[in-house]
Amino acid sequence: MNKVIVKIEKSGNRYNAFDSNGEKFTSMISTSTRKKAYLSGMALEKREGKNNRTYWWKVNMSEFEGSSVPEFDVSSIEVPSDHAEVLNFIHDSYKLKPKGLVMKELKWKYLVRGAVRGKSLLMTGPAGCGKTMAAKSLVNALDRPDFYFNLGATQDPRSSLIGNTHFNKEKGTYFSPSLFVKAIQTPDAVILLDELSRAHPDAWNILMTVLDSGQRYLRLDEADGAETVNVAEGVTFVATANIGNEYTSTRVMDKALMDRFIIVEMDVLNDEEEHGLLTYMFPHVDTEVLKSVAEISHLTRTESKSDAGKISTGISTRTSVELTGLLYDGFGLDEAAEVTIYPQYSDDGGVDSERTFIKQLVQKYVSDGSSDDLFNEDEIESNNVGA
Ligand SMILES: Nc1ncnc2c1ncn2[C@@H]1O[C@H](COP(=O)(O)OP(=O)(O)OP(=O)(O)O)[C@@H](O)[C@H]1O
Ligand SMILES: [Mg+2]
Repeated sequence: MNKVIVKIEKSGNRYNAFDSNGEKFTSMISTSTRKKAYLSGMALEKREGKNNRTYWWKVNMSEFEGSSVPEFDVSSIEVPSDHAEVLNFIHDSYKLKPKGLVMKELKWKYLVRGAVRGKSLLMTGPAGCGKTMAAKSLVNALDRPDFYFNLGATQDPRSSLIGNTHFNKEKGTYFSPSLFVKAIQTPDAVILLDELSRAHPDAWNILMTVLDSGQRYLRLDEADGAETVNVAEGVTFVATANIGNEYTSTRVMDKALMDRFIIVEMDVLNDEEEHGLLTYMFPHVDTEVLKSVAEISHLTRTESKSDAGKISTGISTRTSVELTGLLYDGFGLDEAAEVTIYPQYSDDGGVDSERTFIKQLVQKYVSDGSSDDLFNEDEIESNNVGA
């Protein structure tokens, strides 16, 4: 295939694309792509992606200038500067990760790379491990238009993803498209689909063609031959899902839908990472107490994973952050645990219940002196007497 490289020329408010033979390609390239190339002084090269999807990639103007002359000197081929730019961006992107989000460098870069390459990403992991936070941080780190949809909260997927049909006397019946329709038509948009695993199965069906890289369209109606809206160039989807854990309101997600995503598994923090996060968030809370919180959380996580584990779930990072917020506001570790942790564990079975287990675990930290500053002198005295 011959290389097609075009240069953008502005006439009036139009950005026209011509190759070096003067052939016009304007109608084949989206307005925003042409405009961006023009503004950055770059040429565009026609490329073919997966499933024969063509796209236009920014290349140096010198490529356009040289494009009518065949190139033979293979030794002089360099990494295209646009590719180098992409590489730089990805590998330099760890600094774009907010400090308050704990995530391994590789995972973060993998996320950024997926977004830069226009993949659909699915963040998975148990409740409260930072999926939504990571997805939002990614969206913030990229300088692109963004849209947020919480699919777990939508009662009527059809109206939130497609739109509504209305009637009034003047206009008769008319269709008003949803924000989602606008979002997918926005070139280079990053679209967050939060809590995809909790969405109504109707939502999954609607999204099936949208997310399929070979289709990338939204059908406005179920009827065959109904009008469709194409997903604009460069649109990236970032979804979150509670998968592989105990979360009961999560429906088992359709395999075909999952297959349309690159899956990024969020790591659950270990005790050291959790301690680091809590210290960063609450520098004024005694570090030993923070250590206790991190250890308690960590122990519940390992306990819940072990075969003979006495509890079915671990404490999430969300809960340990919430609990530490109470410590910061002057509550004792025992008090904070009573309102944030214990209610998450069943007291069925009395002394053998999950709640009893958790209480005993927390109690160890409350009374072993790791939390001295939560006691006044007298209490420490009486504690020691009791011991
Ligand atoms: N990896 C993490 N780094 C920093 N903070 C975290 C992390 N994980 C959880 N948190 C804390 O927990 C809170 C909840 O996190 P987030 O909403 O991202 O969880 P989630 O995985 O989306 O949970 P859910 O499955 O319930 O939607 C955050 O606001 C943050 O305070
Ligand atoms: Mg979430």
